[in-house]
Amino acid sequence: MKTSTESNRFVRGHGSVTVTTRKGRTVRIRHIRPTDAALLVDLFHHLSPETRRFRFFTALPDLPDDILWREARRYADFNERKQAAFIALAREGGKDCAIGVVRLVLDKNDPDTAEFAIVLRDDYQREGLGTMMLDLLIQLALVRGIKRLRGISLADNEGIHRLIQKCGFPVESHTSHGETTQIIHLE
Ligand SMILES: CC(C)(COP(=O)(O)OP(=O)(O)OC[C@H]1O[C@@H](n2cnc3c(N)ncnc32)[C@H](O)[C@@H]1OP(=O)(O)O)[C@@H](O)C(=O)NCCC(=O)NCCS
Repeated sequence: MKTSTESNRFVRGHGSVTVTTRKGRTVRIRHIRPTDAALLVDLFHHLSPETRRFRFFTALPDLPDDILWREARRYADFNERKQAAFIALAREGGKDCAIGVVRLVLDKNDPDTAEFAIVLRDDYQREGLGTMMLDLLIQLALVRGIKRLRGISLADNEGIHRLIQKCGFPVESHTSHGETTQIIHLE
């Protein structure tokens, strides 16, 4: 019999949840699909230098298209045994636009731990959406038997530090060489 780590641990669901931000805007959140690369490319184009710096630890310039698309495909089409991701979508000009992503990746050496990362488009930050997306990721992690979620961020990234501190679970935190590691204990 397969163990949970060998099986398709983070199999993508087909449904979505609709939430309302603090400003009253409607956002739909669902699992990322392998066909979502174009949405991720568009999201990247709309991130400010500061948001890129916080998410990728360097103020990434506009990348050449081939590199950007390769990375977007990799972020959308991944191994479900090791990763899971939710995408947040808002209706703009009659179509769905990506306004945020949260993901977790299992630790290679410790199947009880996953590293997570989150990014929201600048114009959707500070409306409570980060809190809702982290809540969803925590629910998924709990259901899938993850015991620890690790977030690594720049030491000056107050937003993510506050978001994690408020998640409702015990958090262990330490900072070294300009990076902060926060571990959410789920058990
Ligand atoms: C960090 C991030 C995900 C937070 O999401 P968000 O939707 O803006 O957060 P919320 O609105 O749910 O706020 C959660 C808490 O954090 C606080 N917060 C959010 N952004 C903040 C900021 N820039 N500075 C200080 N506090 C901040 C909020 O005030 C709130 O606390 P409160 O309820 O006590 O007021 C979002 O700002 C973001 O995408 N940042 C850029 C990418 C990034 O930093 N990723 C993390 C590294 S992987």
